[in-house]
Amino acid sequence: MMKADVLLGLQWGDEGKGKIVDVLTPNYDIIARFQGGPNAGHTLEFNDIKHVLHTVPSGIFRSDTINVVGNGVVIDPVIMQAELEALTKLGVDVKKKLLLSKKAHLILPTHRILDAASEESKGKEKIGSTLKGIGPAYMDKTGRNGLRIGDMDEDDFKEKYNVLVEKHRHILSRFGKQDISLDELENKWFTAIDTLKELQHIDSEHYLNGKLKQGKSILAEGAQGALLDIDFGSYPFVTSSNTICAAACTGLGIPPTSIGEVYGITKAYCTRVGSGPFPTELLDETGELIRKSGNEFGATTGRPRRCGWLDLPALKYTIMLNGVTQLIITKADVLSDFDTIKVCTHYDCKGELIDYFPFDIAPEYVKPVYKTLKGWTQDLTGLQSIEDIPVELNDYINYLEDELEVPVSIVSVGPDRTQTLIREKTTVPS
Ligand code: GDP
Ligand code: IMO
Ligand code: MG
Repeated sequence: MMKADVLLGLQWGDEGKGKIVDVLTPNYDIIARFQGGPNAGHTLEFNDIKHVLHTVPSGIFRSDTINVVGNGVVIDPVIMQAELEALTKLGVDVKKKLLLSKKAHLILPTHRILDAASEESKGKEKIGSTLKGIGPAYMDKTGRNGLRIGDMDEDDFKEKYNVLVEKHRHILSRFGKQDISLDELENKWFTAIDTLKELQHIDSEHYLNGKLKQGKSILAEGAQGALLDIDFGSYPFVTSSNTICAAACTGLGIPPTSIGEVYGITKAYCTRVGSGPFPTELLDETGELIRKSGNEFGATTGRPRRCGWLDLPALKYTIMLNGVTQLIITKADVLSDFDTIKVCTHYDCKGELIDYFPFDIAPEYVKPVYKTLKGWTQDLTGLQSIEDIPVELNDYINYLEDELEVPVSIVSVGPDRTQTLIREKTTVPS
């Protein structure tokens, strides 16, 4: 029986998952998204094309690979329709290469309206949601009200839709939002449903387990990051799904014993979009410089990302939660502007030095304690081989390996597919 490898983010999202999945795809028969929805924005760059995917897995551009949207994902038909049209224009045969789990849940127009109403009601405490209806859609899933891809093919689909929308109207009226006009949104939504009906709908748990039995290789693609996990992230400033490795099992229906390598991705520094605590955040010109050099603006919402130094207590935590077997470091090129760089090694937790991630990481509980390292003031973006990296970057990687006790297998030095350096330790063929 083959194992399924998992690739996921170890921070607050946007670590470069899309780019790395695209790089690794030639080693796999199937790429399968296991959670989240179009709150994700996964950016791929190759042959002068820059493409952002929201729901479709990042293996879609490679010729022979099948891409599966698993049961753990929530799908907005309208956003997916736009994705399909863009991919078709680029020559991708989505009807052949993309399979949807019948058990994946649908995001309704009213989920988005509920998301906005919920955020508005929170005032200063708002989560900073992408407002894609993710929270309300997962609430309906766990509340056992949701509509699924498989329901689209049933005769009573419209009836089920109306029942759910009626429930939503009820809740919206309690937010003070009566008489919402849905006609235009519903027209678009049902048109998009017709488009999704043309795709292949499958029992993805049977499909994927069957493929593993046949010896086919699978890479499970995560969205968001472990620090946004609903259970273990910086709650309540998190997303509404489990984003950690265990969610690859529940979001695809594959057993824990089938998990092989776990690739954990981290930037060489740290970013966050939306509200919530961020111990190593740089609110000064250093943070501004990282944002500018790293082009740190959200792929889904365009919001400026908050930037800061790498946080080792947080990384140790997410490596532990995910059982990471290989580390991937992205955006090493972005730190080329600095003579020295800092890494948070511990938190000062009310006078006590700790190196674990505590219950609350709000500024009143934790203050970052830094170690300063030498930077590499050299442009990395044209490097072809890991042998050519500056000694200071090599020292940085070795330091991280020692601290985190996981080998670094890939170092990314630019957004393009080709700007990827493979290290010797890796099991990934270069
Ligand atoms: P994802 O959500 O984890 O897939 O990441 P995003 O696509 O939201 O954000 C990562 C951003 O960094 C995108 O604009 C990528 O094109 C870009 N990127 C990925 N790897 C690198 C890298 O090594 N260097 C630079 N400069 N940009 C990168
Ligand atoms: P990818 O897959 C970065 C953040 C939002 C907000 C919180 C809740 O591209 O890494 P939600 O829309 O889920 O209700 O928002 O989570 N967030 C992300 N931040 N990258 C993402 O996805 C994110 N998806 C959600 O900014 O703080
Ligand atoms: Mg992203």
